[in-house]
Amino acid sequence: MKIGVFDSGLGGLVVTRAFISAMPEYDYIYYGDTANLPYGEKTPEQILSYTLEALKYLISRKCGLIIIACNTATSIALRYIQQKFIPSYAPDVKVLGVVIPTVEEALLDNAAKVGVVATSATINSKIYAAELHKIKPELEVLEVAAPELVPAIEQDDFILAQKIVNNYAPQFSKMDSLILGCTHYPLVKDFFRKALPNVRIISQDELMGAKLKDYLNRHVEIDISLSRERQYEFLVSMLNDHYQSVALRMFPQINIYPKEK
Ligand code: DGL
Repeated sequence: MKIGVFDSGLGGLVVTRAFISAMPEYDYIYYGDTANLPYGEKTPEQILSYTLEALKYLISRKCGLIIIACNTATSIALRYIQQKFIPSYAPDVKVLGVVIPTVEEALLDNAAKVGVVATSATINSKIYAAELHKIKPELEVLEVAAPELVPAIEQDDFILAQKIVNNYAPQFSKMDSLILGCTHYPLVKDFFRKALPNVRIISQDELMGAKLKDYLNRHVEIDISLSRERQYEFLVSMLNDHYQSVALRMFPQINIYPKEK
């Protein structure tokens, strides 16, 4: 069984890179649904339907552990997938998201005020505030959607992306920590850190590798089912030049292929 990683686009590559650098021995299949991007501006019904399609594909490719490396899909679809879809469709497959590990990380250092910047769908779901308050009810949470940021990153327009970050940053200047609640945002984390030097910026590329490693240490029954041949496969639903150029900067050695229909 392989490890599957799914996102709408580049964000999943950021997380896959974190996994491979923490645990290079496993086999990974990354799938980016670039044809339907950005998920963050789609309806919950569309996001659920795209996510189910992607999961069915990764399950058909023998992924026994799948990480939804997309905050938007995690916010909208993970609960349904874990409670309804997986038990009937593929009970042996384990599906994890990115929100809970990020919330755990954000609460490690006793922050009193935590900001969250994410896509519109993630913010509208209120998942971060809900999960943060489950652990720390008195926490002050400020959630803000930045809908222009993912398209700028996917178009490889980092000059525009920096302007967008600089527009959003001031509202978080009084926060102790800021969760970058979208897996595309690690690609602009330096812009956030520059704009908010006194705020702890929580970037999912810096935590997901250790979180998955810890999960596998605690779930030996899953760990032993995973193959370890260092095979990494990268697939997208639609390949375009912008995507290719950002992806190649991240993984100079990889080939990315359009997924077969
Ligand atoms: N990377 C995805 C996330 O973490 C969203 C990107 C999109 O809007 O498609 O939310």
